[in-house]
Amino acid sequence: MELRDSVGIITGASSGIGWAAARRLSEAGAKLVVTARRREILDQLLGELSAEGVAVAGDIADPALPQQLIDAAVGRFGRLDFVFSNAGIMNIGTVDEIDDAAMTTMIRVNCEAAVRLAYAALRVFKPQGRGDLITTSSILGLKVRPGVAVYAGTKYAIEAMSESLRMELAGTGVRVMVIEPGYTATELQSHWTDEQKVPLKAMRRPVQPDDIARAVQFMLEQPDHVVIPRLLMLPMEQTL
Ligand SMILES: NC(=O)c1ccc[n+]([C@@H]2O[C@H](COP(=O)([O-])OP(=O)(O)OC[C@H]3O[C@@H](n4cnc5c(N)ncnc54)[C@H](OP(=O)(O)O)[C@@H]3O)[C@@H](O)[C@H]2O)c1
Repeated sequence: MELRDSVGIITGASSGIGWAAARRLSEAGAKLVVTARRREILDQLLGELSAEGVAVAGDIADPALPQQLIDAAVGRFGRLDFVFSNAGIMNIGTVDEIDDAAMTTMIRVNCEAAVRLAYAALRVFKPQGRGDLITTSSILGLKVRPGVAVYAGTKYAIEAMSESLRMELAGTGVRVMVIEPGYTATELQSHWTDEQKVPLKAMRRPVQPDDIARAVQFMLEQPDHVVIPRLLMLPMEQTL
């Protein structure tokens, strides 16, 4: 896809990977609808974009938000070419530690909201015979470790959904893909306990948000006869 003058939606754009992707894709000429809950940070992001952008603040778990994002893209820019469905949270802990409300909120954000946005986007892409959906999965969408049961479960669900949808839509011109980051330096783990952060500290050079953004740009810019169904990117020091 030629990114110049394309139109895309990026969720989780107020921080980390989404923020970096917005900056990078905008620099490549994409017009963007960016979303997250923190409106003031989205406004700041708009000021840093190289191409046109619109911010729609909201909770991704709100069932009405996907259509509002699509309406904003089509209303303002007249089309929709790609969706980077990236918003997510990472609440971890053992059976004794983890809070049930935190687990179920995470399922709603990482899974339910991503599913809703995926189907809403694909209902635009399929009739137009083109469009790219990239959802942010994780290394923990491919393998598990103790203490991350529910987070990994949400990412395994993203992997299964995306691969089945890719197969369903093969040949329609619509590409369904996942990006699978390893440990990336963002706000995602900032609320973890010191003990939970121990494995992260062993990785002195994590992936940077812009490394993931560059991979997302690479996936979007592939010619239309190929698809990169999944792309795993890890810090060199990650052994998991
Ligand atoms: N960092 C890593 O090591 C890593 C590794 C593998 C996968 N991932 C995945 O990468 C994605 C992006 O995370 P990140 O690392 O960039 O973390 P981050 O810096 O914490 O960013 C998370 C983004 O999601 C948004 N978000 C969270 N809950 C939301 C909600 N209820 N409604 C709307 N937006 C919400 C946040 O915005 P607001 O708070 O403003 O709403 C923020 O923009 C996630 O799906 C994460 O699971 C990250």
